[in-house]
Amino acid sequence: MTTLVTGVAGFIGFSVAKALLERGNSVIGLDSLNEYYDITLKMSRLEQLKAYESFSFHKIDLAERNTVASFFRSHQTIETIIHLAAQAGVRYSLENPFAYADSNLLGHLSILEGARHLTSLKHLVYASSSSVYGGNETLPFKIDDPVEKPLSLYAATKRSCELMSYSYSHLYQIPVTGLRFFTVYGPWGRPDMSAFIFAKAILDGTEMPVFNQGRMRRNFTYIDDVVQGVLGVIDTIPKSQEGALFSLYNIGNDQSEGLLRFIEVLENCLKTRARLNLLPMQPGDVKETVADISRSTEDFGFMPKTNIEEGLENFVSWFVDYYGYEAKARRQGE
Ligand SMILES: NC(=O)c1ccc[n+]([C@@H]2O[C@H](COP(=O)([O-])OP(=O)(O)OC[C@H]3O[C@@H](n4cnc5c(N)ncnc54)[C@H](O)[C@@H]3O)[C@@H](O)[C@H]2O)c1
Repeated sequence: MTTLVTGVAGFIGFSVAKALLERGNSVIGLDSLNEYYDITLKMSRLEQLKAYESFSFHKIDLAERNTVASFFRSHQTIETIIHLAAQAGVRYSLENPFAYADSNLLGHLSILEGARHLTSLKHLVYASSSSVYGGNETLPFKIDDPVEKPLSLYAATKRSCELMSYSYSHLYQIPVTGLRFFTVYGPWGRPDMSAFIFAKAILDGTEMPVFNQGRMRRNFTYIDDVVQGVLGVIDTIPKSQEGALFSLYNIGNDQSEGLLRFIEVLENCLKTRARLNLLPMQPGDVKETVADISRSTEDFGFMPKTNIEEGLENFVSWFVDYYGYEAKARRQGE
């Protein structure tokens, strides 16, 4: 089975590709290797994937539609697409809105167009986000809830991906599934996310920004549980409903945690106290997310297993090792 994984140098793409390679699948990886965050981290992830013989990599920007079309013309044997490339991050969408239009709107359309012309395609799975629930106040967030109030441009582009996918599925009978991920963390994680920012600030002894005075709750979801969800959904091809082969699922932890509790566990793992800089709510942020995962559990057995105590311990041990904090501490002690 040949699987195309987009965003393969990214946090989730890398983790999914590695799991697919481990189970013997051929993976074609695609990524633009943009500089939204530390490129060396992306290169380190890629280096690990390149160690597998059944992995190949293409540096392509999905916003370049002609390049993407020619890529698909020469890769007609792709059976599954796991499309994870995107401009992620709620806060950055206030600074650089066009990056979201390029990667998430044009990029998603390039993938849909490519999928449309693949004769071998069995399933297109793509990343959406819990941020599509935006201003919804009814918890937990259910797949069938109305999602008409995106609070950030990032959320609006992710909701647009869902709508474009529905049209393409309806028009061209493409089996397509969207996954609304909830705050993913773990080893090889993203430097713009809370676990990473907080761990770095705690270890460097700097103040860390905590928005809405820490009064936020999230379904922090460990990367291995997310990978289990993505692999599980590949063989769950959507059934035809009103002419479209289209599904959406929540992929999140079933436990919601307070942000201050998350920080406390991180402090315990690092055996160091944090210096909190309590700040007001950021525009575009959501106060609380709670995932209803009943449909994911029912349809493909999705069952997150990792609590934040275990997940953060694993994250911290990777973080300290990768960034050489132990060696730095040893040098300071000498
Ligand atoms: N990590 C989370 O908590 C989370 C939550 C909700 C949704 N998501 C979604 O999951 C997906 C993966 O997220 P991640 O955390 O791994 O992010 P990431 O930023 O680590 O990975 C995304 C990758 O996509 C690549 N990319 C961006 N624009 C591209 C383009 N135009 N062409 C080709 N490649 C491009 C980047 O270089 C990067 O390597 C994204 O779609 C994101 O929106 C993530």
